[in-house]
Amino acid sequence: MSQSTLFTSLRLGALELPNRIVMAPLTRMRADKEGKPTEMTVEYYKQRSSAGLVITEGTAISPQAHGYPSTPGIYTPGQIAAWQDVTAAVHANGGRIIMQIAHNGRNSHSSFNADGSSPVSSSAVPPSGPVLTSSFQQVPAEVPRALETGEVSLIINSYRQAAMNAMAAGFDGVELQGANSHLIEQFLETGTNQRTDQYGGPIENRARFLLEIVDEVSNAIGAERLGVRLSPFGQYGGISDTAPFELFKYVINELSSRQIAYLHVIEARGSEMGLTDELHAGAVNNAELFRALFDGPFISAAAYTPHTAEIAVGTGAVDAVAFGRLFIANPDLPLRISLRAPLNKYNRSSFYGGGAEGYIDYPMLPEQR
Ligand SMILES: Cc1cc2nc3c(=O)[nH]c(=O)nc-3n(C[C@H](O)[C@H](O)[C@H](O)COP(=O)(O)O)c2cc1C
Repeated sequence: MSQSTLFTSLRLGALELPNRIVMAPLTRMRADKEGKPTEMTVEYYKQRSSAGLVITEGTAISPQAHGYPSTPGIYTPGQIAAWQDVTAAVHANGGRIIMQIAHNGRNSHSSFNADGSSPVSSSAVPPSGPVLTSSFQQVPAEVPRALETGEVSLIINSYRQAAMNAMAAGFDGVELQGANSHLIEQFLETGTNQRTDQYGGPIENRARFLLEIVDEVSNAIGAERLGVRLSPFGQYGGISDTAPFELFKYVINELSSRQIAYLHVIEARGSEMGLTDELHAGAVNNAELFRALFDGPFISAAAYTPHTAEIAVGTGAVDAVAFGRLFIANPDLPLRISLRAPLNKYNRSSFYGGGAEGYIDYPMLPEQR
């Protein structure tokens, strides 16, 4: 396998990537109290701008959409202005950057809502395991409130507005967080969606929320600037479905016909949020199952090494590979891969929250300093 395949260009909708090494979306919980990225965040993304594509951390589409403490948003003028500094720095360094826009749904806590109201979801089914409060306390999850049918269109509109705000902030496009048990997946899967309206029941109904968002955002910013992230067969937060292959086959076919810029699929073998290095034994291969269904660029993520990424892209199994934890620890990951240089090890204790340590102080190779 020639290493050079990772360093060939790739057209991704409106974008031309100079290499196929993508920075995966990574929540780092270091935004300020107003949900704005800080100067450190500008530096963090700038350091990583040699990625073929930078995808930002999941960013809340509305005040209700937060689910982890100190996460950024894209719904106030101040947030838009602060993100402008990030996009300008990445662009000035020759990079491309897309914002992942997200709604956490039930993976949240009432402390995030100014009025103390419950988190919302497709149905009143709580996540498994604990959640974090807005002040970083781990507490048992609450039972979410099922969204009224009339509220769903308001949330779809928030996605549309968030996408337009991201474009106003200078992003090259947006990625919908449809993975890792966020609100979109809470609508998709049977374990969370017990609705009896047009957004529940058969696959076509459960997929309606996602597809209406895709259509609205495409109308607003252009399908060629929209990517979608999915995690078929994922288990994060206790998410489950009775027929995941049929579900994602339908969803991916529909996305394909909408000619979005790319599909980004998390492999089921990895830990969805990188919380452990252990792999799920016996996991299906999502690229094998779904790649052929999508007529467009296919980005694959989870537990890749430079070597396995080279094989996946070199054999044409996927078009690009997104690295999460390796990009946290190696701001100059593409250069290191191209030189087969040693990689810095990541420090898990500084993934979430804190300051500069473990965020902007991982060393680059001397040649890049
Ligand atoms: C600290 C951390 C934060 C993450 N935050 C997000 C996120 O905001 N959105 C998302 O879709 N995935 C998120 N993920 C998942 C990563 O994008 C990626 O899929 C996962 O880490 C597996 O890739 P890796 O093995 O290369 O780390 C996160 C992972 C980690 C480790």
